[in-house]
Amino acid sequence: MAATRSVPAAGSAPDVQDGALPPGPAASRPLQTARWIFRPGAMLEDCRRRYGDMFTLRITHEGTWVFVSHPDAIKQVFTGDPRVLHAGEANVVLLPVLGHHSVLLLDEAAHMSQRKLMLPSFHGERMRGYEETMAEVARAEIERCPLGQPHPVRPAMQRITLEVILRTVFGVQDDTRRARLRDALGAAFEWGARPRRMAMMAALGPRRVDERGLFRRVLDPADELIYEEILGHRDAPDLAERDDVLSLLLQARHDDGRPMTDEELRDELMTLLVAGHETTASSLAWALERLVRHPDKLERLRDGEDEYLDAVCKETLRLRPILALVLRRLTEPMEIGGRVLPAGVNVAPCIYLVHRRPDVYPEPLAFRPERFLEQPAGTYTWIPFGGGVRRCLGASFALFEMKVVLRELVGRLDLRVTDPRPERITRRAITLVPERGGTVVAERRAA
Ligand code: HEM
Repeated sequence: MAATRSVPAAGSAPDVQDGALPPGPAASRPLQTARWIFRPGAMLEDCRRRYGDMFTLRITHEGTWVFVSHPDAIKQVFTGDPRVLHAGEANVVLLPVLGHHSVLLLDEAAHMSQRKLMLPSFHGERMRGYEETMAEVARAEIERCPLGQPHPVRPAMQRITLEVILRTVFGVQDDTRRARLRDALGAAFEWGARPRRMAMMAALGPRRVDERGLFRRVLDPADELIYEEILGHRDAPDLAERDDVLSLLLQARHDDGRPMTDEELRDELMTLLVAGHETTASSLAWALERLVRHPDKLERLRDGEDEYLDAVCKETLRLRPILALVLRRLTEPMEIGGRVLPAGVNVAPCIYLVHRRPDVYPEPLAFRPERFLEQPAGTYTWIPFGGGVRRCLGASFALFEMKVVLRELVGRLDLRVTDPRPERITRRAITLVPERGGTVVAERRAA
């Protein structure tokens, strides 16, 4: 029986018994993959209409995905045994960039060990220490904002979030070094985000891309600078007083007393950068895209009430989640949503669909931050950061940064929109971003 088969190697397509899986589109794997790449939102909505809370998609090099969008099933996945639900294995597509030590790519004991080292650096209370840096970086970008003409905000948001990570996570204090690192990283990410390269890498599969070092030529200059930074930090006489994440990680110890190796540190820094900067930038772009189309909400935000600011961020992440799903690969058969799913499938708690459930969120398509003042966000119904032992390590960091940056932006700029139609949700690598980058017209606000 397929259910008892051993787990196939990560990155290959597991062959699971069809009968055991929930229904799904009959189209061929390449056709399903193309639709998933170009029209993810429409495809998910269609499938839910046709097949309900659980359905199956087949994606090239990703094997079989079983989507779940009922809160009870999501709870089962997030509270299930991490030995059975492998997330690292399901994220293997990121291997060539993040490296073998990345917390995102590990599972079970190795994952827990890395995660435990990193968690204290991202504790909610610690974020306050970064507030002034975040605000300062936002203010500098606002100074450069083009006035009186429509322009997309996402690139500016990305400059802000990258600068914030380089200062608070990498702890790069020197302006010239930061500029060099910014350029090297920018070049590497642009290289990888080109659709043709993505298609080529999808065709090869992540392990072969890694083995052949296809990313090396563009990654090497950035890696060199990162290793220099690690070395510089290690030797710093004031290491114990520094509050950047790299300094904290250098002082952290595994359970056996071992410090992190340089390779581990490099891979985790790259992970934090990749997981943290575009995601937060795109969330900020979506927040502005929604707010300019709801001037009453924008006005209320200006009143400065912290709870409302928090609600605006939560509502943005609900209605425009940056990732449509999270993945867990089953290492053993597991009962989810009343079905025993076989080993080898990827279970996908669907952020996009659970956030649009009318039984949880009345008028689900309306942008209404007030709903989060009336009702707190549910652990298994508001999941922009995933959940369980894999929940986003940077969730507090991201929410805090969104709040600080939004406060600066709406306090200093008048923002309006030229085209009142909502921007379409489009894909950038694996993230969902506004089609026109969150285009606004900005004017300086009278003091
Ligand atoms: C709005 C911004 C962000 C969004 C929407 C987001 C979303 C996510 C999601 C959905 C996951 C997978 C969770 C799961 O599998 O259950 C994740 C994991 C992760 N995120 Fe974020 N993230 C954001 C910002 C950040 C930031 C700022 C950082 C760090 C600076 C970060 C670091 C990580 C790490 C390290 C993981 C892996 C956790 C693990 O596997 O144990 N993220 N994030």
